[in-house]
Amino acid sequence: MQQREYRSGIGWDIHPLVPGRPLILGGVRIPFELGLGGHSDADALAHAITDALLGAAGLGDIGEHFPDTDPRWKDADSVQLLRQAAGMAAARGFAVAHVDATVILERPKLGPYREAMRGRLAEALELPLERLSLKFKTAEGMGPVGKGSAVEALAVVTLVRNG
Ligand code: C5P
Ligand code: MG
Repeated sequence: MQQREYRSGIGWDIHPLVPGRPLILGGVRIPFELGLGGHSDADALAHAITDALLGAAGLGDIGEHFPDTDPRWKDADSVQLLRQAAGMAAARGFAVAHVDATVILERPKLGPYREAMRGRLAEALELPLERLSLKFKTAEGMGPVGKGSAVEALAVVTLVRNG
């Protein structure tokens, strides 16, 4: 009988909201007066999912594979990094079974972009849409996220290996 091995990984990320940068979350550009500061495109959602995926696969973390000191990743499309991380997990026999993630952002509302973000992320992970869940929250005015200075993202990725 075929045995299935499941593994889960957790990911978290935070990036500052700053002028003069695009706001890209889940690979989708969201119109807003501020954007995310960072070396790559600073897509905190893609980064949290990438870290969760790498964690589940036992492959360390995003900074080990895509260092923010490497000019190759300057303004990089983080969805492509996520795609590469999924490829590394696949090379170990793991397929993505499910993703659940939360973005915490005071403004703007992300609801109107949910389906576009799910579409981009699911496509990168070769995952049916119903296996990729995205949730959005404010920080109710508290802390740096609540003051509108940052965006935070959390993710859990479940991998499955058939063996
Ligand atoms: O944080 P709060 O519970 O007030 O968020 C209420 C709802 O607003 C969330 O469940 C989510 O659907 C939506 N939301 C959003 N974009 C955000 C924050 C919250 O669409 N940046
Ligand atoms: Mg990041």
